Amino acid sequence: MRGVLVTQWTEFENLVIEDCPRPALENGQLRIKTQAAGISFATSLVVAGRYQRKPPLPFVPGTEAAGIVTEIAGDVGAFKTGDRVACILDWGGLAQEAVAHAVNTYAIPDSLEFHRAICFTNSYSTSYAALRWPHLLRLQAGETLLVHGAAGGVGMAAVEIGKILGATVIATVGSAQKAAFATAHGADHVINTREAPFREAVLDLTGGIGANAIYDPVGGDVFAQSLRC
Ligand SMILES: NC(=O)c1ccc[n+]([C@@H]2O[C@H](COP(=O)([O-])OP(=O)(O)OC[C@H]3O[C@@H](n4cnc5c(N)ncnc54)[C@H](OP(=O)(O)O)[C@@H]3O)[C@@H](O)[C@H]2O)c1
Repeated sequence: MRGVLVTQWTEFENLVIEDCPRPALENGQLRIKTQAAGISFATSLVVAGRYQRKPPLPFVPGTEAAGIVTEIAGDVGAFKTGDRVACILDWGGLAQEAVAHAVNTYAIPDSLEFHRAICFTNSYSTSYAALRWPHLLRLQAGETLLVHGAAGGVGMAAVEIGKILGATVIATVGSAQKAAFATAHGADHVINTREAPFREAVLDLTGGIGANAIYDPVGGDVFAQSLRC
């Protein structure tokens, strides 16, 4: 099959599509004919050998994929061949076939396109957990949510989920183009951090009170400044 094969730790831009071995199927796993696969910041770390977990070389990268089930190993009653699914992977998504554990695979409706479905596996679930889980932000309707990196993968998901949960969403982005993108995805207010410091803008927008919840996928000085708004 064709796919991206990493034979040595490298940078994203060096990756090429070539012939690679068909992955073996183990009990409890599904073979998926890939229709769409995600390329994420995490994947760039994996291929460079800088992620928490290092796959054995050579390997196919790719942390999320969506497609059609073509083969099933063992008793995974929830699925049958022909099902449309999306899956979370440690690696293996960027090829014509991916193998996923059934517990990390989700059926998707006919109305959901494959390339959209892959966003729900990692980006939306990460942001949903951060915003909603009881020991994390536990965002409530009527609260003000500040989302950094709001035109990025998890940031955009946080903007959309925040709006669905009934929050007022303030988004920070780094360009006018990203500002338009965040607005189109529901942000109530957008701050271009390349034009103005976000801390003062957030305090202005909230009458000096600051945000109730802050979602920060950027870190560093953004985190330090966030503690003060
Ligand atoms: N995507 C996922 O499924 C997922 C899941 C779990 C964890 N994460 C983690 O969440 C973080 C963000 O991931 P993502 O997928 O949302 O990334 P992304 O799509 O690249 O978005 C990151 C955003 O952060 C902003 N940013 C500010 N300073 C930056 C810098 N020095 N370098 C890069 N970006 C900078 C950029 O927005 P501006 O230019 O507008 O400031 C960029 O759009 C990463 O640490 C990632 O490992 C992601």
